[in-house]
Amino acid sequence: MKAVFCIVLSLLVNAYGRGGTDLGGKWHYIIDPFDVGLGKGLMMDAVPADKHSFFEYSYTGGKTLMVPGDWNHQDPELRWYEGVLWEARHFAASPSRGKRQILYFAGVSLRCDVFLNGVKVVSHEGAFTPFEADVTELIREGDNFLAVRVDNTRHPDSIPALSFDWWNYGGITRDVFLIEVPEVHVRDYFIRLQKGEKDRIVADVQLSVPDEGLQVGIEIPRLGFMKTLRTDKNGHARGSWKVRGLERWAPLAPMLYEVTLFCGEDRISDKIGFRDVAVDGTAVSVNGTPAFLKCISFHEEIPWESRRACSPEDASVLIDAALELGCNAIRLAHYPQNEHIVRLAEEKGLLIWEEIPLWQGIDFSSRETFRRAATYLEEMVGRDRNRCAIILWSISNETRPSPDRNAFLLDLLEEGRALDASRLFTSAFDGVHYDSDAAAFRIEDDPFAASLDVVGINKYMGWYAKWPGDPSSLQWEVLPDKPLVISEFGCEAKAGIFGQADVAWSWSEDYQVSLYRDNLEMFRHIENLAGVSPWILFDFRSPFRQHPVHQDYYNRKGLLSDRGEKKKAWYVMNEFYREK
Ligand code: GCU
Repeated sequence: MKAVFCIVLSLLVNAYGRGGTDLGGKWHYIIDPFDVGLGKGLMMDAVPADKHSFFEYSYTGGKTLMVPGDWNHQDPELRWYEGVLWEARHFAASPSRGKRQILYFAGVSLRCDVFLNGVKVVSHEGAFTPFEADVTELIREGDNFLAVRVDNTRHPDSIPALSFDWWNYGGITRDVFLIEVPEVHVRDYFIRLQKGEKDRIVADVQLSVPDEGLQVGIEIPRLGFMKTLRTDKNGHARGSWKVRGLERWAPLAPMLYEVTLFCGEDRISDKIGFRDVAVDGTAVSVNGTPAFLKCISFHEEIPWESRRACSPEDASVLIDAALELGCNAIRLAHYPQNEHIVRLAEEKGLLIWEEIPLWQGIDFSSRETFRRAATYLEEMVGRDRNRCAIILWSISNETRPSPDRNAFLLDLLEEGRALDASRLFTSAFDGVHYDSDAAAFRIEDDPFAASLDVVGINKYMGWYAKWPGDPSSLQWEVLPDKPLVISEFGCEAKAGIFGQADVAWSWSEDYQVSLYRDNLEMFRHIENLAGVSPWILFDFRSPFRQHPVHQDYYNRKGLLSDRGEKKKAWYVMNEFYREK
């Protein structure tokens, strides 16, 4: 099969490997609830021209926020703020001649316009994918002024849409770099094991210029591997080679190789794993071995500080908690999470289900919404396709069949497969119901579900749905010829409440234990079960969750509380995974 390598986007891949200037730190901010900042000139830091001039808007001397970081947790007045807010800072630069200056944002929520020295250089929609601007012509020797108009207002035709069960954090929530690269540099690459093979490496490399005949070097010292390629008229080079002694990356056995690409004066190194993933009957197999996904879902959040996770240390908190639970896989709910999390998971040997935030309530009739979804998918795949730990791209969560939705998602799936033919595609569905005539759980016919490699089922038996019978006797007839992952199950429990093991509204840990035991018993009878992913690792923030006594804007389905305490159900899940 001709593997397609498309230049996903003009994005610089592996920005973290470029060692750019970190523009994080204290940024000034101005809240702009009436969105007047453009007219007020907030793209510049006002200074009085003479003794007659005055101004009411300027940054210097004002309040500051830490970047990366959401604004909600940094200023009590911004806990619920939804709207426009400007963040800005001065920075000194000393651009080298003949080099390109790339301004790179790892993520801004939910959308933004970026101004450098008063000139708009880029706009971006989507909180969870990176973007950049080439500012070579604008950057100055010495002082520069960078201003970002951030807007976290929700829109009905956005991805996600008007409502979602997580906090609508706003701000420059991820890293910002100024990266200097040679005129001719490695812009994008995709290096992987040839699908279906054990010892053939494939490399696609895209340079920043569409020049033919340029030489690209690829070095993997640990394999004694050193090859050179020539670019075609698009500046793209491809090669594939059999290699000896290749140790494949595997779950909890994360073999990563230092790979260096170079062209002219440009060099970029990355840690690359080589593995194969496929569907094998109703199992997901990695390197030809069925791998039951002992998974856990989590949000990109540090709950005890009510904030977005954004640093390598934050990534360790989340990944270590997944490893301690006994997982070999994680579901990054419900959006591409930051690169620290993805890369650390890969280094620790955790398989990854990664998804775009196409979450309920999507306007499937809008072509504008489709363009946004396709862009999200391109940006997620473009950023992470070199991360071998990712085995599943998921493109939707809890959508129901309809003509518009079927067409939208089938088109999106086609886009995804064109972007990356090397991975499995999935989605999570909540349409499973108990069919008493058939005495089995079933799902409505769905041409989109039928087109996926793996199917995720979100099913809250004992919480949103009452048990129709004894869990050990219940049968499932849900897409029996496909691998099925229980992508969500569980219930709420507030840490420290005990007893009433049969009372849902008790919010007790003992009810959560009985529910987990019942669900795990039922899962044992699902013939095509390929994995489970409890919802969720930690209690997390959500505007939906307003139970006057138990929630306090936390969804409390965590196996760990918002303080990181293990609830009793954590031990039930840990035992299940240790036995698997
Ligand atoms: C849904 C949804 C989650 C949500 C969960 C819940 O299945 O996918 O995002 O948090 O249910 O209701 O807790």
